[in-house]
Amino acid sequence: MRYGFFDQDKKEYIITNPYTPTPWINYLGGGDYGGIISHTAGGYSFDGDPRYKRVLRYRYNAIPEDQPGRYIYIRDNKSENYWSASWQPVKRDYDYYKCYHGLGYTAIEQKVDDIKTSITYFVPGNHSMEIWWLRVKNHSAQQRDLGLFTYAEFSFFDAVKDQQNLDWTQQIQQGDFEDNIIYWNAFMKYWDYIFMTSSMPVSSFETSREAFIGSYRDLSNPVVVERGYCDNNEARRANGAGVLNNNITLEAGEEKEIIYLLGTTPDKDISKKEIGNFLKVDRVKREFVNLKKYWDKYLNKCQVETPDDEMNLMLNTWNPYQCKTTFNWSRFVSLYQLGINRGMGFRDSAQDILGVVHSIPDESKELIIKLLKCQHSKGNAYHLFYPLTGEGSIGEAGEDGSVDWYSDDHLWVILSVTAYIKETGDLAFLEELVPYVDSKKKASVLRHLCQALEFTESHKGKHNLPLAGFADWNDTINLDHGNGTAESVWTGMLYSYVLKEMIDLLQYIKQEELADKYNDYYRKQIGDINKWAWDGSWYLRAFDDNGQVVGSSKCESGKIFLNPQSWSIIAGITAKENRKKLLENVKKYLNTEYGVVLLYPAYHEYDKSKGGITTYPPGAKENGGIFLHTNPWVMIAEAIEGNGEQAYQYYRQVLPPCRNEIADIYEVEPYVYCQNILGKEHPQFGLGRNSWLTGTAAWMYRAAVYYILGIRPDYDGLIVDPVLPSEWNGFKVRRVIRNKILKIECIRKGEKSIEINGEKISDTNKIKYSRLNKKENNIRVYFN
Ligand code: GLC
Repeated sequence: MRYGFFDQDKKEYIITNPYTPTPWINYLGGGDYGGIISHTAGGYSFDGDPRYKRVLRYRYNAIPEDQPGRYIYIRDNKSENYWSASWQPVKRDYDYYKCYHGLGYTAIEQKVDDIKTSITYFVPGNHSMEIWWLRVKNHSAQQRDLGLFTYAEFSFFDAVKDQQNLDWTQQIQQGDFEDNIIYWNAFMKYWDYIFMTSSMPVSSFETSREAFIGSYRDLSNPVVVERGYCDNNEARRANGAGVLNNNITLEAGEEKEIIYLLGTTPDKDISKKEIGNFLKVDRVKREFVNLKKYWDKYLNKCQVETPDDEMNLMLNTWNPYQCKTTFNWSRFVSLYQLGINRGMGFRDSAQDILGVVHSIPDESKELIIKLLKCQHSKGNAYHLFYPLTGEGSIGEAGEDGSVDWYSDDHLWVILSVTAYIKETGDLAFLEELVPYVDSKKKASVLRHLCQALEFTESHKGKHNLPLAGFADWNDTINLDHGNGTAESVWTGMLYSYVLKEMIDLLQYIKQEELADKYNDYYRKQIGDINKWAWDGSWYLRAFDDNGQVVGSSKCESGKIFLNPQSWSIIAGITAKENRKKLLENVKKYLNTEYGVVLLYPAYHEYDKSKGGITTYPPGAKENGGIFLHTNPWVMIAEAIEGNGEQAYQYYRQVLPPCRNEIADIYEVEPYVYCQNILGKEHPQFGLGRNSWLTGTAAWMYRAAVYYILGIRPDYDGLIVDPVLPSEWNGFKVRRVIRNKILKIECIRKGEKSIEINGEKISDTNKIKYSRLNKKENNIRVYFN
């Protein structure tokens, strides 16, 4: 069944049936104040940090589903009938319902009982507030008297205490009403205020959830809405609620607009001034136009025109939009990651940067610096950190006395830095001084990167492969059980790849000696991988703490793992004669109609020696599920091998818009990638979960733009090296880089050459930046 469709021009996904299999959500805000919002307005808000500055509560995984949220109840004061503008929580039958998820905003339209409501939610710029912009129109022939009631359920800022220390949090929190504004804070006023207000004079208000709902009722039938007025209660202890009641009269055909603001402020007086400015429809409209302009600018850095409409839709709008969301929130806060336990992931953010660096290089640089500040002077890094406090943690590592570092985290940031420099040419960044987390002494960015390499070089096992640490990219392969001898073949591949990146960078900046040193490391590492980890038809995954192999044809379960195969090609490790065979085996054992699974056959029982991976049943998540993050690596490997057809087929088979028709199997949003899909060994094969916050976003973007379309920046020029399916004769791209606009037309012609503003340069696939002599450059790229 279909629940909605794309409006490509407006860059919206429009849901027409609210009974989606899971809440289909969107994000508000740009990384500071913001929140998540579902198609029925369920969801919650936070200010910069969902754990330490939570504004709205959400009841995760509860019954009824997807509550609470940002609600407006509408009450016909004559008939006493009432409903809610976002369908939930009252769920009244409607004549008409549509939810528009757009970039940074969600709008919900509904018609019930001849009253049409249309509510748009968004965050204006980087202000610490959100706007609920409501329009109500009377489509009946009679005058209508309506009572409007907002409902926002306030959280204690510390979202963990809000759930765990009810005896304290509920006793200390208090509501006030001043100048038409509800304020919510704790008795000792130690934290900022949450505020909520309306553009109309409030007829009555309530600040206590209990008083609003009434005994043994719920959000679908609150006593206050049923009776039509609030008690103007400034709660002195309670679960907090922002209930503003406006009574309006609408003549036949008349429409009224009302603006509600919800946000945080350190000071009541500041908020009063600021609030006043935002309570005018003109200002709200201007802010909404600015939001659209922001996203146009963000997206404009790279726009493609290929023969594939769904690919265009993803690459021009939804994929970069998701990349910005993962850049903002890493794996911290979604419907699945609750914004309380994880914090920002070090390796995750380092990869997220790869998906946005062309659009927001300055913000990418800021995040890189935050990451480097989480690096220890030995070179390894914290696994997680909290954005508001900068506090870091080693995640699950170190529990039960296990090793307290991951083998890969610190290596990923090398990729973020080289991507940033290739994009911007900002070599001075390498000299910027940044402290380590454990020492006040600062070191240059370049030094940080070298230190990361040295950590791995000095933590190797008996096959000269990186020690496994607590885990590598796969958080759930936990092989070190006290002997400290387990090794990760895959981390050896990541290590080889980043060594290559560093060698290229060092050669470019003419630090030959260091480049030679790393070249020795690289040669030695790939030599040892080929010596110890080639299993005959593919690469092994690891050696466990007892020296047993993982990922071999000789194993009963987990005979073949995906990542060492794709990465052996990405890192240039696989011998020429083995590559074809290796990729064929990936396809034969791991590919399915819904994507490529992470390993085969899955583990059939819990095995402590392998760790978390065997806690999942066969086919789920890391145990043989389609862990989507890894699929683009196979596409990249195929593209590196020149297999355009296969790379593209792997790309198409996981495109979310292609799942629009099978939403009842897939269940999650068809406009963004999800993290995992149940694999072929699971009875619910094809079911997706953990949408939005996944490294899939950045890597799918890379696979498509950098490798299939082949447009990737190097230090001295933009490489254009498409690897396309044979039926494609070309495509167009508009790319902005180093303050130049490049209008590129790629044409299949059986030869390799480039024309820059009419001047032909033969036999190359690189557009040298030095040759871009105009602001706007017309470029033709001919390829075989
Ligand atoms: C999750 C983690 C990511 C890890 C992946 C595989 O997505 O956020 O860091 O690489 O799982 O275990």
